[in-house]
Amino acid sequence: MEILVVGGGAREHALVRALSLDPAVTALHAAPGNPGIGELAELHAIDPLDGAAVAALAGELNVDLVVVGPEAPLVAGVADAVRAAGVPVFGPSAAGARLEGSKAFAKEVMAAAGVPTAAARVATTVEQVAAALDAFGAPHVVKEDGLAAGKGVVVTSDRETALAHAAACLAKPGGQVVVEEYLDGPEVSLFVLSDGSDVVPLQPAQDFKRVDDDDAGPNTGGMGAYSPLPWAPPGLVDEVVATVAAPTIAEMARRGTPFAGVLYCGLALTSRGVRVVEFNARFGDPETQVVLPRLATPLAGVLMAAATGGLAQLAPLQWRDEAAVTVVVAAHGYPVSVRSDDPITGIADAVQVPDVHVLHAGTALRDGVLVSAGGRVLSVVGTGADLTAARATAYAGVERIMLPGSHHRTDIARRAAAAEAAGAPLS
Ligand code: AMP
Ligand code: GLY
Repeated sequence: MEILVVGGGAREHALVRALSLDPAVTALHAAPGNPGIGELAELHAIDPLDGAAVAALAGELNVDLVVVGPEAPLVAGVADAVRAAGVPVFGPSAAGARLEGSKAFAKEVMAAAGVPTAAARVATTVEQVAAALDAFGAPHVVKEDGLAAGKGVVVTSDRETALAHAAACLAKPGGQVVVEEYLDGPEVSLFVLSDGSDVVPLQPAQDFKRVDDDDAGPNTGGMGAYSPLPWAPPGLVDEVVATVAAPTIAEMARRGTPFAGVLYCGLALTSRGVRVVEFNARFGDPETQVVLPRLATPLAGVLMAAATGGLAQLAPLQWRDEAAVTVVVAAHGYPVSVRSDDPITGIADAVQVPDVHVLHAGTALRDGVLVSAGGRVLSVVGTGADLTAARATAYAGVERIMLPGSHHRTDIARRAAAAEAAGAPLS
């Protein structure tokens, strides 16, 4: 099978890496990719948001499957363009990707499908926002309606901060915000594959969204992740499939806009039960980096089945009985004001640590030198028999990487590893 992966972050590097380990895959291409992906796939310098260009490239290369990684091309209709050219594509249509592209739309679909989520109000004026903040009370949750790369959400107990964020979002053309009830409890990311009618869950992961240890500082795209979740209730995946994923997929099909690809269910396990925090229309970054290394079933056939209506015929997925932890190495200033062009060294050392691999996100080659070129620069992955081992391995890898001014969280999977070792719930 010959495959073209669209995108150029650590999630796409994880996808390309997993596909490269699948014996059925005979050629890998990426557009635009990054220097790490370039070690495994042939890179093509096209605009990933240009559906016609992606479809033309898929045709020229005569690939069997196109896999779209990030949300922006999906929302822009890249999957539609590829599908219209007759090439199987993993990733929803623009109509399907609205589940991520508009938080107000996602809320409407959840209401229609009876999916449990935070109570919410859509607001287009500061007065409506103020009324909603008072109705729900603190802590306040204010979300920009459209795509914001994980940075459009403010959770705060300070009413003025909440109002200021809302005002900034509303000042944008067509600005609208969603004000929500606060959801308490641990968060879980569950990826559910769909071919438009059937659904197949992967294993859950947990992401660390705040920039600093102990969940301090602003939200980011994600600073690290781990899988599995030894503390999660045993029936969680089945419950989420039954109460969240299957009804959502059925509602999208009923509307004539079937959703094929991966429905990322961002969940909060509250004292009142599971609630959806958000939907995304693609794999999560950095959760993908810890879910895929644990998947023993070769990936290409799984993605092809989702792309071509074949999930009902797919054999049950097989999982490795091991844990994975990833730590994101971020550039100086991320997420506020990112500095680029710092030299990156030590990757070759890091991958000498057994069970470590290093995935590239914001990297570039300048005159043959690897430099930072984005906020999240690298995703260092460690695997091991349990979370304690995987965590130690990932951090041993991180220690060997040199990037001036960089920062990373030191507490990824710490509580979960301690709870697992003690056989206790997450404290
Ligand atoms: P989102 O972009 O909707 O995933 O939000 C980003 C992050 O903000 C989530 O992962 C949560 O940590 C937090 N968040 C979003 N919505 C809520 C909510 N209703 N209650 C508490 N935290 C939330
Ligand atoms: N890890 C969060 C996201 O991919 O949106």
